[in-house]
Amino acid sequence: IARRRIAQLLQSSPSETIQEVPGWVRTKRDSKNVCFLELNDGSSLQGLQAIIDKSATDLQNTLDRLQTGASVIARGTLVASPGKGQSVELSCTELDLLGEAPAESYPLQKKRHSFEFLREIAHLRGRTNTFGAVMRVRNRLSIAVHQFFQEREFLYLNTPIITASDAEGAGALFQVTTLDVNNPPRREDGSLDYSEDFFGKPAYLTVSGQLNAEAYATALDRVYTFGPTFRAENSNTTRHLAEFWMIEPEMAFCDLEGNMSLAEDFVRFLLKDILDRCPEDMAFFDKRIEPGIVESLRTVAESDFRRMTYTEAIDVLEKSGRSFSFSPHWGIDLQTEHEKFLTEDYAQGPVIVTDYPREIKAFYMKQNPDGKTVRAMDVLVPRLGEIIGGSQREEGLEPLEKAIRRCGLETESYQWYLDLRRFGTVPHAGFGLGFERLVRYVTGMQNIRDVIPFPRAVGSAEF
Ligand code: 4AD
Ligand code: MG
Repeated sequence: IARRRIAQLLQSSPSETIQEVPGWVRTKRDSKNVCFLELNDGSSLQGLQAIIDKSATDLQNTLDRLQTGASVIARGTLVASPGKGQSVELSCTELDLLGEAPAESYPLQKKRHSFEFLREIAHLRGRTNTFGAVMRVRNRLSIAVHQFFQEREFLYLNTPIITASDAEGAGALFQVTTLDVNNPPRREDGSLDYSEDFFGKPAYLTVSGQLNAEAYATALDRVYTFGPTFRAENSNTTRHLAEFWMIEPEMAFCDLEGNMSLAEDFVRFLLKDILDRCPEDMAFFDKRIEPGIVESLRTVAESDFRRMTYTEAIDVLEKSGRSFSFSPHWGIDLQTEHEKFLTEDYAQGPVIVTDYPREIKAFYMKQNPDGKTVRAMDVLVPRLGEIIGGSQREEGLEPLEKAIRRCGLETESYQWYLDLRRFGTVPHAGFGLGFERLVRYVTGMQNIRDVIPFPRAVGSAEF
Protein backbone atom coordinates (compact mmCIF):
# COMPACT_ATOMS: atom_id res chain seq x y z
CA ILE A 1 0.00 0.00 0.00
CA ALA A 2 1.44 3.31 -1.09
CA ARG A 3 1.09 6.14 1.39
CA ARG A 4 1.57 9.56 -0.12
CA ARG A 5 0.25 12.89 1.02
CA ILE A 6 -2.56 14.65 -0.80
CA ALA A 7 -0.34 17.31 -2.43
CA GLN A 8 1.58 14.48 -4.13
CA LEU A 9 -1.51 12.48 -5.01
CA LEU A 10 -3.00 15.49 -6.79
CA GLN A 11 0.07 15.54 -9.03
CA SER A 12 -0.12 11.81 -9.76
CA SER A 13 -1.69 9.93 -12.66
CA PRO A 14 -4.56 7.48 -12.33
CA SER A 15 -3.33 4.04 -11.30
CA GLU A 16 -4.52 0.65 -10.07
CA THR A 17 -2.42 0.85 -6.92
CA ILE A 18 -4.44 1.09 -3.73
CA GLN A 19 -3.78 4.42 -2.02
CA GLU A 20 -4.26 4.96 1.66
CA VAL A 21 -5.23 8.53 2.45
CA PRO A 22 -5.47 9.76 6.03
CA GLY A 23 -7.01 13.19 6.51
CA TRP A 24 -9.84 15.33 7.76
CA VAL A 25 -13.19 15.74 6.07
CA ARG A 26 -13.72 19.28 4.84
CA THR A 27 -17.06 18.73 3.13
CA LYS A 28 -19.48 15.93 2.45
CA ARG A 29 -22.01 15.91 -0.39
CA ASP A 30 -24.37 13.03 -0.26
CA SER A 31 -26.77 11.88 -2.94
CA LYS A 32 -28.74 8.71 -3.38
CA ASN A 33 -26.03 6.62 -5.02
CA VAL A 34 -22.78 8.43 -4.40
CA CYS A 35 -21.11 10.41 -1.69
CA PHE A 36 -18.41 13.04 -2.35
CA LEU A 37 -15.92 13.81 0.38
CA GLU A 38 -13.28 16.48 0.26
CA LEU A 39 -10.30 15.31 2.30
CA ASN A 40 -7.52 17.58 3.47
CA ASP A 41 -4.26 16.63 5.19
CA GLY A 42 -2.57 20.03 5.36
CA SER A 43 -0.09 19.27 2.58
CA SER A 44 -1.86 21.63 0.19
CA LEU A 45 -4.69 24.08 -0.03
CA GLN A 46 -6.57 21.84 -2.36
CA GLY A 47 -8.12 18.71 -0.96
CA LEU A 48 -8.56 15.34 -2.56
CA GLN A 49 -12.05 14.44 -3.68
CA ALA A 50 -13.07 10.95 -2.61
CA ILE A 51 -16.03 9.32 -4.30
CA ILE A 52 -17.91 6.50 -2.69
CA ASP A 53 -20.26 4.37 -4.72
CA LYS A 54 -22.86 3.52 -2.10
CA SER A 55 -24.30 0.55 -3.96
CA ALA A 56 -20.89 -1.09 -4.25
CA THR A 57 -19.82 -0.54 -0.66
CA ASP A 58 -21.25 -1.08 2.77
CA LEU A 59 -20.36 2.31 4.14
CA GLN A 60 -23.70 3.96 4.76
CA ASN A 61 -23.36 3.73 8.55
CA THR A 62 -19.93 5.30 8.47
CA LEU A 63 -21.04 8.01 6.05
CA ASP A 64 -23.96 8.92 8.29
CA ARG A 65 -21.55 9.70 11.11
CA LEU A 66 -19.13 11.66 8.92
CA GLN A 67 -19.25 15.41 9.27
CA THR A 68 -16.97 18.35 8.61
CA GLY A 69 -13.91 17.94 10.79
CA ALA A 70 -14.01 14.16 11.19
CA SER A 71 -10.74 12.27 10.80
CA VAL A 72 -10.66 9.32 8.44
CA ILE A 73 -8.46 6.93 6.54
CA ALA A 74 -9.78 6.43 3.02
CA ARG A 75 -8.56 3.68 0.71
CA GLY A 76 -9.06 3.31 -3.00
CA THR A 77 -7.50 3.96 -6.36
CA LEU A 78 -6.75 7.20 -8.16
CA VAL A 79 -8.99 7.70 -11.18
CA ALA A 80 -9.27 10.51 -13.70
CA SER A 81 -11.63 13.16 -12.42
CA PRO A 82 -14.44 14.35 -14.67
CA GLY A 83 -14.87 17.47 -12.51
CA LYS A 84 -12.90 20.61 -13.13
CA GLY A 85 -10.23 21.87 -10.75
CA GLN A 86 -8.49 18.53 -10.28
CA SER A 87 -7.17 15.88 -12.63
CA VAL A 88 -7.56 12.91 -10.28
CA GLU A 89 -9.88 11.80 -7.53
CA LEU A 90 -10.02 8.84 -5.19
CA SER A 91 -12.43 6.05 -6.02
CA CYS A 92 -12.89 5.06 -2.40
CA THR A 93 -13.80 1.52 -1.44
CA GLU A 94 -12.84 1.46 2.22
CA LEU A 95 -13.23 4.15 4.82
CA ASP A 96 -12.23 4.09 8.49
CA LEU A 97 -13.69 6.76 10.72
CA LEU A 98 -11.11 7.61 13.38
CA GLY A 99 -12.71 10.53 15.15
CA GLU A 100 -16.10 12.15 14.74
CA ALA A 101 -16.71 15.90 14.87
CA PRO A 102 -20.35 16.40 15.80
CA ALA A 103 -21.81 19.35 13.94
CA GLU A 104 -23.69 20.60 17.02
CA SER A 105 -20.45 21.17 18.91
CA TYR A 106 -17.60 21.41 16.36
CA PRO A 107 -16.85 25.15 16.10
CA LEU A 108 -15.56 25.11 12.51
CA GLN A 109 -18.41 24.78 10.12
CA LYS A 110 -18.31 25.01 6.37
CA LYS A 111 -18.70 28.77 6.21
CA ARG A 112 -16.31 31.67 6.51
CA HIS A 113 -15.47 32.51 10.07
CA SER A 114 -14.09 35.89 11.09
CA PHE A 115 -10.44 36.03 12.13
CA GLU A 116 -11.56 37.44 15.49
CA PHE A 117 -13.64 34.34 16.08
CA LEU A 118 -10.82 32.04 14.93
CA ARG A 119 -8.41 33.72 17.36
CA GLU A 120 -10.63 32.46 20.17
CA ILE A 121 -10.11 28.90 18.94
CA ALA A 122 -6.44 29.13 18.03
CA HIS A 123 -6.03 25.42 18.73
CA LEU A 124 -8.43 24.57 15.88
CA ARG A 125 -7.84 27.35 13.38
CA GLY A 126 -4.98 25.48 11.69
CA ARG A 127 -7.73 23.38 10.08
CA THR A 128 -8.97 26.28 7.96
CA ASN A 129 -7.69 27.11 4.48
CA THR A 130 -6.28 30.47 5.54
CA PHE A 131 -4.31 29.19 8.50
CA GLY A 132 -3.04 26.18 6.59
CA ALA A 133 -1.74 28.54 3.91
CA VAL A 134 -0.24 30.96 6.46
CA MET A 135 1.62 28.17 8.25
CA ARG A 136 2.96 26.66 5.03
CA VAL A 137 4.23 30.08 3.93
CA ARG A 138 5.69 30.69 7.38
CA ASN A 139 7.47 27.34 7.24
CA ARG A 140 8.93 28.02 3.81
CA LEU A 141 10.06 31.51 4.77
CA SER A 142 11.95 30.22 7.78
CA ILE A 143 13.81 27.72 5.59
CA ALA A 144 14.56 30.49 3.07
CA VAL A 145 16.03 32.61 5.88
CA HIS A 146 18.57 29.90 6.66
CA GLN A 147 19.27 29.32 3.01
CA PHE A 148 20.01 32.99 2.39
CA PHE A 149 22.51 33.24 5.23
CA GLN A 150 24.09 29.84 4.75
CA GLU A 151 24.76 30.66 1.08
CA ARG A 152 26.56 33.80 2.25
CA GLU A 153 28.64 31.97 4.86
CA PHE A 154 26.94 33.39 7.91
CA LEU A 155 27.16 31.20 10.99
CA TYR A 156 23.86 30.36 12.69
CA LEU A 157 24.21 31.35 16.33
CA ASN A 158 21.81 30.47 19.13
CA THR A 159 21.67 33.37 21.55
CA PRO A 160 20.26 33.07 25.07
CA ILE A 161 16.64 33.61 25.95
CA ILE A 162 17.28 34.36 29.63
CA THR A 163 19.54 37.36 29.96
CA ALA A 164 20.59 40.05 32.42
CA SER A 165 20.92 42.95 29.98
CA ASP A 166 18.32 45.07 28.28
CA ALA A 167 19.60 44.90 24.71
CA GLU A 168 17.44 47.76 23.48
CA GLY A 169 17.60 49.85 26.62
CA ALA A 170 13.87 50.43 26.22
CA GLY A 171 12.83 48.95 29.55
CA ALA A 172 10.09 46.72 28.11
CA LEU A 173 11.18 43.50 29.81
CA PHE A 174 9.56 40.40 31.20
CA GLN A 175 11.31 39.40 34.39
CA VAL A 176 12.24 35.77 35.01
CA THR A 177 11.91 34.47 38.53
CA THR A 178 12.48 31.11 40.13
CA LEU A 179 9.49 29.50 41.72
CA ASP A 180 9.22 26.31 43.68
CA VAL A 181 5.64 25.43 42.78
CA ASN A 182 5.30 23.00 45.66
CA ASN A 183 6.49 25.52 48.15
CA PRO A 184 6.05 28.96 46.62
CA PRO A 185 7.25 31.98 48.53
CA ARG A 186 4.31 33.81 50.05
CA ARG A 187 3.82 37.27 51.37
CA GLU A 188 2.44 37.82 54.86
CA ASP A 189 -1.09 38.06 53.54
CA GLY A 190 -0.71 34.61 51.95
CA SER A 191 -0.54 35.79 48.31
CA LEU A 192 2.20 34.45 46.04
CA ASP A 193 5.41 36.44 46.14
CA TYR A 194 6.92 36.61 42.67
CA SER A 195 9.71 38.98 43.58
CA GLU A 196 12.26 36.17 43.79
CA ASP A 197 14.79 36.51 40.99
CA PHE A 198 16.93 34.12 38.99
CA PHE A 199 19.08 32.44 41.65
CA GLY A 200 19.98 35.70 43.29
CA LYS A 201 20.36 37.97 40.26
CA PRO A 202 17.79 39.81 38.21
CA ALA A 203 17.06 38.11 34.89
CA TYR A 204 14.78 38.82 31.97
CA LEU A 205 13.51 37.30 28.76
CA THR A 206 15.60 38.64 25.91
CA VAL A 207 14.30 41.49 23.75
CA SER A 208 16.99 40.88 21.11
CA GLY A 209 19.95 38.59 20.53
CA GLN A 210 21.96 41.42 19.08
CA LEU A 211 24.47 42.08 21.85
CA ASN A 212 25.36 38.39 22.04
CA ALA A 213 25.53 38.22 18.26
CA GLU A 214 27.98 41.15 18.30
CA ALA A 215 30.26 39.14 20.59
CA TYR A 216 30.45 36.37 18.01
CA ALA A 217 30.53 38.64 14.95
CA THR A 218 33.64 40.24 16.43
CA ALA A 219 35.17 36.76 16.55
CA LEU A 220 33.72 34.88 13.58
CA ASP A 221 32.95 37.76 11.22
CA ARG A 222 29.40 36.91 10.09
CA VAL A 223 26.68 35.43 12.26
CA TYR A 224 22.91 35.42 12.47
CA THR A 225 20.35 34.51 15.08
CA PHE A 226 16.79 33.38 14.53
CA GLY A 227 14.88 32.93 17.73
CA PRO A 228 12.08 34.07 19.97
CA THR A 229 12.24 37.51 21.56
CA PHE A 230 9.97 39.13 24.10
CA ARG A 231 8.69 42.64 24.59
CA ALA A 232 6.57 43.74 27.52
CA GLU A 233 5.31 46.85 25.73
CA ASN A 234 1.65 47.51 26.20
CA SER A 235 1.05 47.83 22.44
CA ASN A 236 -2.32 46.55 21.45
CA THR A 237 -1.85 46.93 17.68
CA THR A 238 -1.99 44.80 14.56
CA ARG A 239 1.82 44.73 14.30
CA HIS A 240 3.01 44.08 17.85
CA LEU A 241 3.34 40.81 19.71
CA ALA A 242 4.69 40.21 23.20
CA GLU A 243 6.52 37.12 21.89
CA PHE A 244 7.83 37.21 18.34
CA TRP A 245 10.61 35.63 16.32
CA MET A 246 13.45 37.77 15.07
CA ILE A 247 16.22 37.21 12.56
CA GLU A 248 19.34 39.19 13.39
CA PRO A 249 22.44 39.11 11.18
CA GLU A 250 25.58 40.79 12.49
CA MET A 251 28.67 41.52 10.39
CA ALA A 252 32.17 42.58 11.33
CA PHE A 253 34.08 44.91 9.00
CA CYS A 254 30.81 46.34 7.78
CA ASP A 255 29.25 49.80 7.75
CA LEU A 256 25.74 51.13 7.21
CA GLU A 257 26.04 50.86 3.41
CA GLY A 258 26.87 47.15 3.59
CA ASN A 259 24.09 46.68 6.10
CA MET A 260 21.53 48.31 3.81
CA SER A 261 22.62 46.18 0.85
CA LEU A 262 22.30 43.00 2.87
CA ALA A 263 18.84 43.96 4.15
CA GLU A 264 17.63 44.75 0.66
CA ASP A 265 19.06 41.55 -0.83
CA PHE A 266 17.53 39.59 2.03
CA VAL A 267 13.98 40.91 1.57
CA ARG A 268 14.15 40.47 -2.20
CA PHE A 269 15.47 36.92 -1.83
CA LEU A 270 12.65 35.98 0.54
CA LEU A 271 9.96 37.40 -1.74
CA LYS A 272 11.31 35.61 -4.81
CA ASP A 273 11.62 32.38 -2.91
CA ILE A 274 8.07 32.41 -1.61
CA LEU A 275 6.57 33.34 -4.98
CA ASP A 276 8.46 30.45 -6.57
CA ARG A 277 7.91 27.88 -3.87
CA CYS A 278 4.37 28.52 -2.66
CA PRO A 279 2.46 29.63 -5.77
CA GLU A 280 -0.79 27.92 -4.76
CA ASP A 281 -0.91 29.50 -1.30
CA MET A 282 0.16 32.88 -2.67
CA ALA A 283 -2.61 32.73 -5.28
CA PHE A 284 -5.03 32.08 -2.43
CA PHE A 285 -3.87 35.19 -0.55
CA ASP A 286 -4.15 37.18 -3.74
CA LYS A 287 -7.70 36.03 -4.29
CA ARG A 288 -9.05 36.02 -0.76
CA ILE A 289 -6.96 38.28 1.44
CA GLU A 290 -5.13 41.04 -0.45
CA PRO A 291 -5.96 41.42 -4.15
CA GLY A 292 -2.90 42.22 -6.27
CA ILE A 293 -0.39 41.07 -3.66
CA VAL A 294 1.44 38.60 -5.91
CA GLU A 295 2.11 41.21 -8.55
CA SER A 296 3.17 43.85 -6.03
CA LEU A 297 5.57 41.50 -4.23
CA ARG A 298 7.04 40.48 -7.57
CA THR A 299 7.67 44.13 -8.39
CA VAL A 300 9.32 44.71 -5.02
CA ALA A 301 11.46 41.59 -5.47
CA GLU A 302 12.87 43.10 -8.63
CA SER A 303 13.34 46.75 -7.73
CA ASP A 304 15.84 48.80 -5.75
CA PHE A 305 14.61 50.18 -2.46
CA ARG A 306 14.34 53.94 -2.15
CA ARG A 307 16.83 55.33 0.38
CA MET A 308 16.48 58.57 2.32
CA THR A 309 17.67 60.08 5.55
CA TYR A 310 15.31 60.70 8.44
CA THR A 311 15.78 64.44 7.90
CA GLU A 312 14.69 64.09 4.27
CA ALA A 313 11.75 61.91 5.32
CA ILE A 314 10.53 64.54 7.79
CA ASP A 315 10.86 67.16 5.09
CA VAL A 316 8.75 65.07 2.69
CA LEU A 317 6.11 64.52 5.38
CA GLU A 318 5.98 68.20 6.34
CA LYS A 319 5.55 69.23 2.73
CA SER A 320 3.06 66.49 1.91
CA GLY A 321 0.00 68.60 2.61
CA ARG A 322 -1.46 65.66 4.51
CA SER A 323 -3.09 66.14 7.85
CA PHE A 324 -1.60 63.44 10.02
CA SER A 325 -3.08 62.75 13.42
CA PHE A 326 0.47 63.03 14.80
CA SER A 327 2.08 66.01 13.11
CA PRO A 328 5.57 65.36 11.77
CA HIS A 329 8.54 67.46 12.81
CA TRP A 330 12.25 66.80 13.33
CA GLY A 331 12.83 64.76 16.47
CA ILE A 332 9.68 62.64 16.55
CA ASP A 333 9.69 58.91 16.06
CA LEU A 334 7.99 58.02 12.77
CA GLN A 335 4.45 56.82 13.36
CA THR A 336 2.67 54.10 11.38
CA GLU A 337 0.71 56.75 9.42
CA HIS A 338 3.99 58.43 8.41
CA GLU A 339 5.55 55.15 7.33
CA LYS A 340 2.40 54.43 5.36
CA PHE A 341 2.64 57.75 3.55
CA LEU A 342 6.33 57.31 2.73
CA THR A 343 5.91 53.81 1.32
CA GLU A 344 2.45 53.95 -0.25
CA ASP A 345 2.10 57.52 -1.50
CA TYR A 346 5.62 58.83 -1.81
CA ALA A 347 7.85 55.94 -2.92
CA GLN A 348 5.16 53.40 -3.81
CA GLY A 349 7.44 50.68 -2.56
CA PRO A 350 9.90 49.92 0.24
CA VAL A 351 11.97 52.75 1.70
CA ILE A 352 15.12 52.61 3.81
CA VAL A 353 15.25 55.53 6.22
CA THR A 354 18.65 56.24 7.78
CA ASP A 355 20.32 58.57 10.27
CA TYR A 356 17.60 59.00 12.87
CA PRO A 357 17.91 61.39 15.81
CA ARG A 358 20.11 59.96 18.54
CA GLU A 359 17.47 60.56 21.22
CA ILE A 360 14.91 58.17 19.74
CA LYS A 361 17.26 55.28 19.00
CA ALA A 362 19.12 52.68 21.07
CA PHE A 363 22.38 53.36 22.90
CA TYR A 364 24.55 51.06 20.78
CA MET A 365 24.18 52.89 17.46
CA LYS A 366 27.18 54.62 15.93
CA GLN A 367 27.02 58.37 16.30
CA ASN A 368 27.35 60.62 13.31
CA PRO A 369 29.82 63.53 13.39
CA ASP A 370 26.87 65.98 13.51
CA GLY A 371 26.35 65.03 17.17
CA LYS A 372 22.59 64.75 16.59
CA THR A 373 21.98 61.62 14.53
CA VAL A 374 23.06 57.99 14.56
CA ARG A 375 23.83 55.47 11.82
CA ALA A 376 20.45 53.78 12.10
CA MET A 377 18.32 52.28 9.37
CA ASP A 378 14.73 51.18 9.26
CA VAL A 379 13.32 49.33 6.27
CA LEU A 380 9.68 50.33 5.71
CA VAL A 381 7.26 48.52 3.43
CA PRO A 382 3.75 49.33 2.17
CA ARG A 383 0.76 48.01 4.18
CA LEU A 384 2.93 47.44 7.24
CA GLY A 385 5.58 50.08 7.90
CA GLU A 386 8.73 49.02 9.75
CA ILE A 387 9.81 45.49 8.91
CA ILE A 388 13.52 45.83 9.74
CA GLY A 389 15.42 47.92 12.26
CA GLY A 390 19.20 48.02 12.35
CA SER A 391 22.34 50.11 12.49
CA GLN A 392 26.06 50.37 12.31
CA ARG A 393 27.24 49.85 15.90
CA GLU A 394 29.32 52.23 17.96
CA GLU A 395 32.77 50.63 17.94
CA GLY A 396 34.52 53.24 20.09
CA LEU A 397 34.83 52.48 23.80
CA GLU A 398 34.39 56.01 25.13
CA PRO A 399 31.46 57.12 23.01
CA LEU A 400 29.71 53.85 23.83
CA GLU A 401 30.25 54.24 27.58
CA LYS A 402 28.90 57.78 27.36
CA ALA A 403 25.86 56.65 25.39
CA ILE A 404 25.06 53.96 27.95
CA ARG A 405 25.18 56.53 30.75
CA ARG A 406 23.24 59.10 28.77
CA CYS A 407 20.45 56.55 28.31
CA GLY A 408 20.28 56.06 32.08
CA LEU A 409 21.63 52.49 31.97
CA GLU A 410 24.17 50.96 34.35
CA THR A 411 27.62 50.57 32.76
CA GLU A 412 28.34 47.67 35.16
CA SER A 413 25.91 45.34 33.42
CA TYR A 414 27.46 46.14 30.03
CA GLN A 415 31.12 45.50 30.92
CA TRP A 416 31.29 42.35 28.81
CA TYR A 417 29.79 44.28 25.90
CA LEU A 418 32.30 47.08 26.36
CA ASP A 419 35.11 44.47 26.25
CA LEU A 420 34.24 43.98 22.58
CA ARG A 421 35.43 47.59 22.12
CA ARG A 422 38.37 47.28 24.51
CA PHE A 423 39.87 44.37 22.60
CA GLY A 424 40.21 44.23 18.84
CA THR A 425 37.25 46.46 18.07
CA VAL A 426 36.08 46.73 14.44
CA PRO A 427 33.38 48.59 12.57
CA HIS A 428 30.37 46.32 12.55
CA ALA A 429 26.69 46.43 11.71
CA GLY A 430 23.54 44.37 11.71
CA PHE A 431 19.79 44.44 11.75
CA GLY A 432 16.70 42.67 13.01
CA LEU A 433 13.81 41.51 10.89
CA GLY A 434 10.61 40.68 12.73
CA PHE A 435 9.58 37.31 11.36
CA GLU A 436 5.84 37.78 11.95
CA ARG A 437 5.97 41.19 10.31
CA LEU A 438 7.50 39.48 7.30
CA VAL A 439 4.81 36.79 7.23
CA ARG A 440 2.14 39.48 7.57
CA TYR A 441 3.64 41.45 4.70
CA VAL A 442 3.96 38.42 2.43
CA THR A 443 0.49 36.98 3.06
CA GLY A 444 -1.41 40.27 3.21
CA MET A 445 -2.96 39.23 6.52
CA GLN A 446 -4.09 42.29 8.45
CA ASN A 447 -3.29 41.26 11.99
CA ILE A 448 0.06 39.97 13.25
CA ARG A 449 -1.83 37.69 15.66
CA ASP A 450 -2.97 35.69 12.66
CA VAL A 451 0.46 34.76 11.32
CA ILE A 452 1.85 32.93 14.35
CA PRO A 453 0.35 29.63 15.55
CA PHE A 454 -0.37 30.81 19.08
CA PRO A 455 -0.12 34.58 19.53
CA ARG A 456 1.14 36.10 22.76
CA ALA A 457 -0.01 39.69 22.86
CA VAL A 458 -1.80 42.12 25.12
CA GLY A 459 -4.85 40.21 26.29
CA SER A 460 -4.00 36.92 24.59
CA ALA A 461 -1.82 34.22 26.07
CA GLU A 462 -4.26 31.32 26.08
CA PHE A 463 -3.76 27.91 24.48
O1 4AD B 1 13.70 47.76 15.77
P1 4AD B 1 13.94 46.68 16.78
O2 4AD B 1 13.48 46.91 18.16
O3 4AD B 1 15.49 46.39 16.72
C1 4AD B 1 16.18 45.50 17.47
O4 4AD B 1 15.69 44.74 18.28
C2 4AD B 1 17.63 45.42 17.12
N1 4AD B 1 18.35 44.82 18.25
C3 4AD B 1 17.82 44.64 15.85
C4 4AD B 1 19.25 44.54 15.43
O5 4AD B 1 19.80 45.51 14.99
N2 4AD B 1 19.86 43.39 15.55
O6 4AD B 1 13.28 45.33 16.28
C5 4AD B 1 13.63 44.79 15.03
C6 4AD B 1 12.41 44.33 14.28
C7 4AD B 1 11.44 45.46 13.94
O7 4AD B 1 11.82 46.12 12.78
C8 4AD B 1 10.14 44.69 13.77
O8 4AD B 1 10.11 44.08 12.49
C9 4AD B 1 10.28 43.60 14.80
O9 4AD B 1 11.64 43.44 15.07
N3 4AD B 1 9.56 43.93 16.04
C10 4AD B 1 8.40 43.36 16.41
N4 4AD B 1 7.64 42.44 15.82
C11 4AD B 1 6.51 42.06 16.46
N5 4AD B 1 6.13 42.54 17.65
C12 4AD B 1 6.87 43.47 18.30
N6 4AD B 1 6.49 43.91 19.50
C13 4AD B 1 8.07 43.92 17.67
N7 4AD B 1 9.04 44.80 18.02
C14 4AD B 1 9.93 44.78 17.01
MG1 MG C 1 12.68 49.51 15.50
